[in-house]
Amino acid sequence: MSPRKSPPRTATLTEIIHARLTRRAALGGLAAGGALAFLNHVLRTPLAGAAMGPSSLGFEEISHAITPDHRVAPGYRAEVIMRWGDPVLPDAPEWIPGNPAAAAQATQFGYNNDFLAYLPLPAGSNESRHGLLVVNHEYTNAELIWPGITDGPALTREQAEVEMAAHGLSVIEVAQSEGRWQVLPGSRYARRITAHTPMRCSGPAAGSPRLRTAADPGGASPLGTLNNCAGGKTPWGTVITAEENFHFYFGGEAGDSAESGNLLSYGVGGELRYNWYRHDERFDAGAEPREPNRFGWLVEIDPRDPGFVPIKRTALGRFKHEGAGFALDRSGAVVAYSGDDERFQFLYKFVSRGRFDPSRGSANGRLLDDGTLFAARFEADGRLIWLPLVHGQGPLTPANGFGGPADVLIETRRAAALMGATPMDRPEDVEVHPLTGKVYVALTNNSRRKPGEIDGANPRPHNRFGHLVEIVPPGRPEGPDHQALEARWNLFLLAGDPRDSGSGARYHPRTSADGWLACPDNLAVDRKGRLWISTDQGADQRKNAIADGMYACDTEGEGRALTRFFFACPADAEMCGPEFTPDGRTLFLSVQHPGEGSTFDRPSTRWPDFRDGHPPRPSVVAVTKDDGGEIGS
Ligand code: FEO
Ligand code: CA
Ligand code: CA
Ligand code: CA
Repeated sequence: MSPRKSPPRTATLTEIIHARLTRRAALGGLAAGGALAFLNHVLRTPLAGAAMGPSSLGFEEISHAITPDHRVAPGYRAEVIMRWGDPVLPDAPEWIPGNPAAAAQATQFGYNNDFLAYLPLPAGSNESRHGLLVVNHEYTNAELIWPGITDGPALTREQAEVEMAAHGLSVIEVAQSEGRWQVLPGSRYARRITAHTPMRCSGPAAGSPRLRTAADPGGASPLGTLNNCAGGKTPWGTVITAEENFHFYFGGEAGDSAESGNLLSYGVGGELRYNWYRHDERFDAGAEPREPNRFGWLVEIDPRDPGFVPIKRTALGRFKHEGAGFALDRSGAVVAYSGDDERFQFLYKFVSRGRFDPSRGSANGRLLDDGTLFAARFEADGRLIWLPLVHGQGPLTPANGFGGPADVLIETRRAAALMGATPMDRPEDVEVHPLTGKVYVALTNNSRRKPGEIDGANPRPHNRFGHLVEIVPPGRPEGPDHQALEARWNLFLLAGDPRDSGSGARYHPRTSADGWLACPDNLAVDRKGRLWISTDQGADQRKNAIADGMYACDTEGEGRALTRFFFACPADAEMCGPEFTPDGRTLFLSVQHPGEGSTFDRPSTRWPDFRDGHPPRPSVVAVTKDDGGEIGS
């Protein structure tokens, strides 16, 4: 379980890479020529090249300090390329600080950008200087949008409409010219998706009576997507966006409805952060107790088709999805890992019944409608048991209120709990390492876990700093078996300050005073196989007195779990969306909720404009290296 155990040699990793690329080429996921070119590049690039100590990472790390502006490692440039309120659609009016209009917001970049997906243009190429960025807009901070706001639920109808229009996603076209990234105006791909955008449901729960409402008697045509946190990219080049804390949006009294137990288990009727239900009956769970069942799904979007109707893929289960980490199993089955980001909730994976066929392009999306959803049980002996959530099996029967497959998917949490899944410390991103086939799970924190509730995979009570679990599927190195019902797991690192003896933190022993991290959230893997970890401490940022930002470390070899601090967010922001271009020379980052905890009138930062009267603005940043080289090299 020690992060320092069994460091594989570089030669072993090279063999793994070769096996993976050969297999991917054989499956058609990559052209064989492209795979070999990539392999040659990897072989020419020493995995422990311009090393700093045992780490393969060559950048000089920055300090942990909280400052009003963002900061990046020396020798790198970090430029804001898109801000909340900037134009997305051709007819977008200019952003007006302090007085946004709903109609304008529906054409402008939304609030609180989170997940980022870069898709090269043209499709199927490795173009790293021209592509689409698909961006989630997770939530809104009314107190930073308008002056004088202290009580979100007291907003006017027009203000609620602004919030609805600031949610959802943006699709923007970006290009790099003379080293600088720009958003291309007038793009034919430009799109805003909001809380009102028509969508459809597919898979076993589509059309279920429990998804039917007065406005949609067919139960398969919901409107909008909410609280889109992270996401994933499918092997066929579409994007999955994850609906996370959907419960914040529903008010009213649903206590007497047949759905009351289900609603309660997802927190509907608890904390209310929006007053939309006062202006739109759809969000009144007393009037429409089945409307919340139409949220909490993974939603597929084809950004290359601006008219694409987003699809809520119900076979992947309903919970507070953080995101989705995709793998192509060696058999050709599509596997999607996803965490339910709430204290004591579970880790899941979906395995498609059918096989990926590269010649079918986006029609492969149907694979996500037919398959098996599993929940994870982490055994103390290092085994991970995947528990199938199949109607009629085990306790998932009518006697327990599961009348059919749709019920298991709508009440995924209850099904997983009955099957004996392991309650985790808030599963955030799950990332499949493309070179080693291992799977990394960020567990962000869980201050409510009591000493009597710890287990091997969640080993610390009052877990304020979170940890990373590494899952090792069988079948490596020739081809990881992501379908297997059993895998191995270990603790990759335990976050917190390792010099605080009471923290229980555990990293590489040479982790520096600025290299330790708190509350891991989103994950990415670079071309050389290094893991990039973003952090989100929430209000604890001030208590811990360290900025949120981007860290990186090796996953194999002498530098395993030796994290280094690369990019610091401005004050009171969290870091999201790490996304590399295929050449690894640009890293796109999402700076979410700068200034959170302060107000429009007295913001803790005015990032990135730093102009009087301008509130802080969530924005997307493009990081490049001054010498044009690979990020982190
Ligand atoms: Fe939206 Fe799990 O953070
Ligand atoms: Ca987050
Ligand atoms: Ca990720
Ligand atoms: Ca988080």
